[in-house]
Amino acid sequence: MCGIVGYLGKQQAAPILLDGLAKLEYRGYDSAGVCVYNDGFCVSKTVGRLMNLSSKIDGGAALTGHMGIGHTRWATHGAPSDVNSHPHIATNGKIGIVHNGIIENYLSLKLFLTEHGKTFLSDTDTEVAANLIEYLYEEEGDLLKAVQMAAKQMEGSYALGIMCIDRPNAMLAVKKDSPLIFGFGEGENFIASDVPAILKYTRKVVYLNDGDMVDFTADGATFYNSLGEEVSKTPENITWELSAAEKGGYDHFMLKEIHEQPKALRNTICPRIKDGRVRMDYLTLTEDDLRGIRRIYIVACGSAYYAGYHGKYILEKICRIPVEPMLASEFRYADPILDEHTLVIIISQSGETADTLAALRQANSLGARTLGIVNVVGSAIAKAATDVIYTWAGPEIAVATTKAYSTQLSVLYLLALYMGDLMGTLSTEEYDAMICALQALPEQIEQTLTAEKLAAIKDMAYDCRDNHDVFFIGRNLDNPTCMEGSLKLKEIAYVHSEAYAAGELKHGPISLIEENTLVVAVAGVEELFDKTMSNVKEVKARGANVLGVTTENMAEEICKTVDRCLLVPQTHPLLQPSLNIVPLQVFSYYVALARGCDVDKPRNLAKSVTVE
Ligand code: G6P
Repeated sequence: MCGIVGYLGKQQAAPILLDGLAKLEYRGYDSAGVCVYNDGFCVSKTVGRLMNLSSKIDGGAALTGHMGIGHTRWATHGAPSDVNSHPHIATNGKIGIVHNGIIENYLSLKLFLTEHGKTFLSDTDTEVAANLIEYLYEEEGDLLKAVQMAAKQMEGSYALGIMCIDRPNAMLAVKKDSPLIFGFGEGENFIASDVPAILKYTRKVVYLNDGDMVDFTADGATFYNSLGEEVSKTPENITWELSAAEKGGYDHFMLKEIHEQPKALRNTICPRIKDGRVRMDYLTLTEDDLRGIRRIYIVACGSAYYAGYHGKYILEKICRIPVEPMLASEFRYADPILDEHTLVIIISQSGETADTLAALRQANSLGARTLGIVNVVGSAIAKAATDVIYTWAGPEIAVATTKAYSTQLSVLYLLALYMGDLMGTLSTEEYDAMICALQALPEQIEQTLTAEKLAAIKDMAYDCRDNHDVFFIGRNLDNPTCMEGSLKLKEIAYVHSEAYAAGELKHGPISLIEENTLVVAVAGVEELFDKTMSNVKEVKARGANVLGVTTENMAEEICKTVDRCLLVPQTHPLLQPSLNIVPLQVFSYYVALARGCDVDKPRNLAKSVTVE
C-alpha cells in the first residue's frame, strides 16, 4: 500500500521518479504524484493510473529539476482524489513530503497545528505530517532537529521523503514500521519503498531500521539512528536482476509467477537439504528448546494464513505438538496465552503486513519464541522475529500470491522435518520418503503446467466464467487448499466463492446448491477420498456442476461422478497440497481473464497491506 521514491543527482528527476513509481505499482494504488524542486516545488498529481500522471507531465519532461519525490497512494484518510494525492506541501510552502504509512494521532496534531496557524487542503494524515515538520522547522530553525522531533510526536507508521525549500541540494528520509531503502549511486542517490524502483540505477542499498533517518545530497549520505546519533551503514549488494521483477514475455505477472513456482521451490528447498538431511543450523531453536515447546501458533493474513493452516496438519502429524493457525488480525486482539513454551510462527511474503507485524511484536513481548517465514529480505518481520527462514521466491509482483504461497508451504515441510528429526518423532523411513518427495516437487509442479494442461484449464475457466457463486469443498489438508483456491477466485475474478470443509456441507451451505451451481471438489487426501466423494454425490444429486481436483491414481473413480476433472501427479500425502493448488491458481487466472478483470492489479486490493 503506497509507494515512495526520491531522487537527487545530475539527471532530470521526474522521468526517474515515474519509472520508479511504475516498479512500485504492485503495492496497490489509486492515485499518484511527483514533486520536483526547481527554485521552488513543482507538483503534479492525479487520481487513477500512473499513465494519467505520466501524460499530464509529458513523461516527466514538463517538470524539470534534479531533485524530486514521487508517490503512489492507496487511499486511507480521504477518498482517492487529486487533492488527497501526494506529495503534500505544508502551509507556508517550505516543506514537501511523500508518505507511506498512517499517522494515527493525526487528528490531535491537526488541531494543534490549526491553532498555530496551519491550514489544510486535503483530508490526509500526510498533510498533517508536512505541517508538523514545517511548524517545528519554523520554531527550531533546523530541519534535522525538526524531523527528529516530529518523528517522536507522530504515532503510527511512516516512511517519509522530505524536501525543504531552503535546502535545494539535500533531501531527508525517515522511517518507522513502513519499508524504506536508500540507494547509493554515482553522483546521485535514491530512496524508495522497495528495491525494483531503483535497481535500474544502483545495486548498492541500505535497508533502513525503524527510527533511522538519512540526510543526503547527490554525493553523500549521513545516517542517524532513533536516538539521533550518527551511525554508519554498509550497503548490501542486490544480486537479483531487474528482469525478475518484469513480465519477461508473459501477459501478466501472475502467469509468470505461476510458472516460476518450480524454480522458486528449488531455490527454497535445495540449499536446505544436504546429504539427505534438512539443514537449518542457523536457527537458534535448539533440541532442548523444541522439547520445551508445548504449543505452536501459526499467525498470518490472507494466503499466508492458508499456507499456515496446512502447517497445522503437517506439524501436528510430524512433531505431535498442538498447532493453532490464527489470522493475525484476530490473534493480536485475542489476548493469546503465550510464554517461553510457545512457538509463534509468523508467515508473510512482504514482511510488512501491519496486522502480522503487530502480532509478532505482541508474541515477542509476551516471551514466546518467534520464527518468521518471510520472502522480502530485511523486511520488518524478518528483522523482528527471533529466527527467520526466507522463502526464496524472488520478487512477487502480482497482488494475488502464487509462488510465495508455494514456497511458504515448502518451508513448512522443511521445518516439520527439521523439528521432527530433532525431536525424534519421525521414523527414518518416513523422513527419507518426505525428503525424496520434497526434492521431486518442483518437477511435479512443472508437470501440472504443461501447455496441454493449461489449455484444458483455460477451456474449463471460459465455460465457468458466468458462475456467480462457487463452493470449494475438501477435507483435512484439502480444506485449506480450498480456502486458498476460493480466495484466488474472489480476489482476481471477482466471483463470490466460499470454501467449506466437505463434512460441513450438510450443516448449511448445501441449501445453496442449485441446478448448475459450480462446486470445486478437491479430493487429494487418499484416506478420505470416499468421504469426499460422498459429499460430491450429495451436491451432484442437487444439480451442482462439479469440477474435481485429484491425483492421477484416483482419477478413474472421481471422473465417473464429476462433470470435469483436473488431475495432478501424486506425491507424499503431506506434500499433496503443493500440487493440488496449482490448477486452482491457473483456473482463477483464466476465469479472471475471461471476465475481463485486471489480473495483476485487482480492484481495491494491495500487495502490501500496511494498515489494520
Ligand atoms: C494481501 C495480498 C495477499 C497476501 C496477504 C498477506 O492481501 O494480496 O496475497 O497473502 O496480503 O500478505 P503477506 O505479505 O503478509 O504475505
